[in-house]
Order: sequence, then structure tokens, then C-alpha cells
Amino acid sequence: MQTPSPYGSFPNTRLRRMRRWPWSRTMVQETHLTPANLIWPIFVKEGSGSAEPIASMPGVERVSVDLAVEHAAEAVELGISCIAIFPVTPAHLKSDDGRHSLDPDNLICRATKGIRDRCGDSLGIVCDVALDPYTTHGHDGVVIDNDVANDITVDILCGQAINQARAGCTVIAPSDMMDGRIGRIRKALDAEGFTHVAIMSYAAKYASAFYGPFRDAVGSAKNLGGATKKTYQMDPCNTDEALREVALDIDEGADIVMVKPGMPYLDIVRRLHDNFSLPIAVYQVSGEYAMLKLASQAGSLDERTAVMESMIAFRRAGACSILTYFAKRVAQWLQ
Ligand code: PBG
Repeated sequence: MQTPSPYGSFPNTRLRRMRRWPWSRTMVQETHLTPANLIWPIFVKEGSGSAEPIASMPGVERVSVDLAVEHAAEAVELGISCIAIFPVTPAHLKSDDGRHSLDPDNLICRATKGIRDRCGDSLGIVCDVALDPYTTHGHDGVVIDNDVANDITVDILCGQAINQARAGCTVIAPSDMMDGRIGRIRKALDAEGFTHVAIMSYAAKYASAFYGPFRDAVGSAKNLGGATKKTYQMDPCNTDEALREVALDIDEGADIVMVKPGMPYLDIVRRLHDNFSLPIAVYQVSGEYAMLKLASQAGSLDERTAVMESMIAFRRAGACSILTYFAKRVAQWLQ
């Protein structure tokens, strides 16, 4: 018991009162996370029954299509909303214009078909649209005169989107950052009868160092050499520009807009949430995964609590969907 102060009870307002008990903490909890908030990105490679570790992303593997289908079935079981497929294209299939992206029998299409056959409509299948898994130079588009040529690239991206929609993908996710691509892809999909296929636009995608491990995972790092993507991905210094990108993508028909990377860009998620009323996704990218995983392995962080805190941070900032390589673990922890 505290002695009553002659000046009245001090302080009158004690926020710690509601933090005292587990029940009161739960009762006043403002932000929640469920497996339905998760999108699980996976890396698919050739072969069957085979998985190989990715050195820069401990705990993440490149898997053959049959194992990718198993992953998808597990995702359904765990209540995860979507799986996002990234292909590891064999070097001999890469070209300067990334034309293998248009092959109906390429890895991403085979994985999409396999997952759709096994899981039907019980989870969303997200296919990335960009040419970097298919180009010899590792850029997301066609390079002409040392520049990624916007309009020519957009034509190919439309073909890539249709190819993936035909294979059964339900969400097209353009990650290329070409101008005007959302509108053109929307029209192209509609013209082919894919009016129900959604577009999740990588709208505010920054030129980030945090994509490093992903580029190892899909094998585009060596193609890219030392080159950067600064002429098409956003400058990390900018935030008003993110609002313009998103306004354009909404106008062009995006169903969901994404912010990427995640944790260093929570201010962008919050700004978009305050300014627009459409679903916002956030991508906890490969470098963020590596930071959390390696620090946990080194004993500097408790993996589970740190990862769960990062998930809640995304939800609190205003994202409804979180792409994370921790998706399966998080869904298990939430069980
Ligand atoms: C390709 C693409 C990238 C990522 C998703 N799609 C890499 C890049 O833009 O270089 C990064 C994802 C990650 O780092 O986890 N357009």
C-alpha cells in the first residue's frame, strides 16, 4: 500500500494498471496477427525430390516442384493465405530479353500448375512479374543503350503475366518498377478473360541492399555483377514519391499495393495506410530474414519473440499481408 499523498493520488493515471495481468494485456491489445495475414515466398528449382540450402539464408531452401507442392499443402493446413513462387532459372535458359519468362513450361508455370492441382482454390498463388530471374544481365527488364527500356519491357511483362495466369496463378505481382505496367498488365489480363486474377503491385519498392540474399537464392547476383537497380527502383531517401507511385498504381487497377523492404520502411507503410484505403502488403525481404536468423543463431536474439515482434510491427503500421520467409514458422507458433 502506498501512503496517500497530501497532494492527492499521484499519478492519477497509471497506464501500468492495464499492463499488470495477462487478461488485461490481452483485453487492451490493439493489433492482432493471424496466419491469414501471411504470404510465404518459396524458391523453386529443377529436379525432383530435391532441396538445397541457401547459404545466405539459413533455414531456407531451393526446392523442386514436387516439394514446392508439399509446401503449399502445408501452407493450407496452417491457414497461410498465399504462397509466392520465385524460380531459380537454369543459366542456359537465361537470355538478354528474358524470353524464357514466356515459356508455358517454365519452372514457375509448372510449380503453379502443380500447386493449383493439389490445393485448388484453398490458397492464393502469387507469381512475380519481372525479368530478372530470366535475364543474362540480371536486370528486371530489357537493356538497350545501357538503360532498362521501359515500354519494350512492359510488353514482355504483359506476356509473362498472361503466361502465369494461364498456368493457374491467382495473384500477379509485378516487382519490376517499370512505369505504366499495372494498367497495361490489367488490360492484357482482362483481354484474355482473366478479370478475376488480382494484381498485387510492388508499388513502393526501394533500391535496397537488403535484397542481397534473394539475388543469391535465385542466382541473379552473378548476372547483375556490380550493377544497381537505381534507375527503376525507388531512392531510399524518398517518401512523397511512394504516395505518387501508389496513386498511379491504384488508378491503373492495382488491388493490393506493397511496400518493400519491410522493417526499415515501416514509415512508408504507415503513410500509405493513412492516405489510401486499399489493402497494403509488406515484404520482409531476404536481408531482413538473414539479420533476424543469423542474430538468433548467434544467440543475440530470441528468434521466436523477435520474429513475432516484427510481424506485429507490420500489422501495427497498417499492413494486412506480410510476405515473410518465416511464414511457416510464424503460422506454427500461432497454432
Ligand atoms: C525481383 C525481386 C527481388 C525481390 C523480389 N522480387 C529482387 C530485386 O529486386 O533485385 C527481393 C526479395 C527479397 O529480397 O527477399 N524483381
